Amino acid sequence: MYTDVKTILDDASRNNYGVLAASAINLELARGLIAAADELQSPLIILMGQMQMTKHARADVMVPLIRTLAEETNVPVALILDHGRDWEVITHAYRNGFSSIMIDASAYELEENIRRTKKVIEMCHPQGVAVEAELGHVGQAALGEQTDDSCYTRPEDVTEFLNQTRADCLAIACGTAHGQYPKGVTPEIRFDIIRVVKKVTDVPIALHGGSGSGDENIKKAVEAGINKVNVCTEIFNYVRDEIRKTLEQTPEIDLLSLMSRTEQAAKEIGKHFICLTGSQGKAANFQRKSAFQYGFAQTETDGGE
Ligand code: 13P
Repeated sequence: MYTDVKTILDDASRNNYGVLAASAINLELARGLIAAADELQSPLIILMGQMQMTKHARADVMVPLIRTLAEETNVPVALILDHGRDWEVITHAYRNGFSSIMIDASAYELEENIRRTKKVIEMCHPQGVAVEAELGHVGQAALGEQTDDSCYTRPEDVTEFLNQTRADCLAIACGTAHGQYPKGVTPEIRFDIIRVVKKVTDVPIALHGGSGSGDENIKKAVEAGINKVNVCTEIFNYVRDEIRKTLEQTPEIDLLSLMSRTEQAAKEIGKHFICLTGSQGKAANFQRKSAFQYGFAQTETDGGE
């Protein structure tokens, strides 16, 4: 069932669990991840990043693919533009049927972040497209930015930011960073920040840079109040390593079988993270609405004009 992140995350926030948000750059990853969600009867969020869209698979190619796969399962699946920074990319995603958009204006000062976020929300909300925004700034693991506490979300800004923007989900910076940490480094997640943010708002909150956090830390982050857990690098690495192992063991494997193995690997690692976030079985909380339940807007008759 193709849906949006607000539908999924409002339930997660109400019922205190997390939902995996994972990158799918091709058919095999999308099928593997959705199969994982289907088997565990869990909601799922598929991420597609701005760079992926500009360099590899455009929205007009990927959205119909994800949407078709999502409609083949009874579990809710949302597709979100991850870290939309440029207006052109955001509008491209919006026009091409993403159910959800992330506007990342976190590199700007609070006021400019609010202005840019509001602009995207004013476009998206009237069309039922859900919007995630970022407050504080989640940096890059390769630059060690997870330890830069000047980037962490200031809980005292949260209420104003959400009152002004009406974002449907808030990504916070609390000690993780995107990408691969140097060997031996595990981020120190500030669970206290998560707890305080959760206290001041009902809006679902997202943890970015989930890779390399360690399984126990992800569970603890969800317990503290995280509802959306973004994981990309660790999933890509797992799938890559499984492809490598398969090629080492069977170098002459035919391509179709290799792609099946790729899909299987995506399913395995997807299941692992779904179990960490605690969303298995939660698909039961969502019911597909009959088209007739939506009804029609009541309009005055206009004589057929
Ligand atoms: P990682 O690649 O570090 O898991 O980050 C994923 C992410 O947060 C995408 O927005």
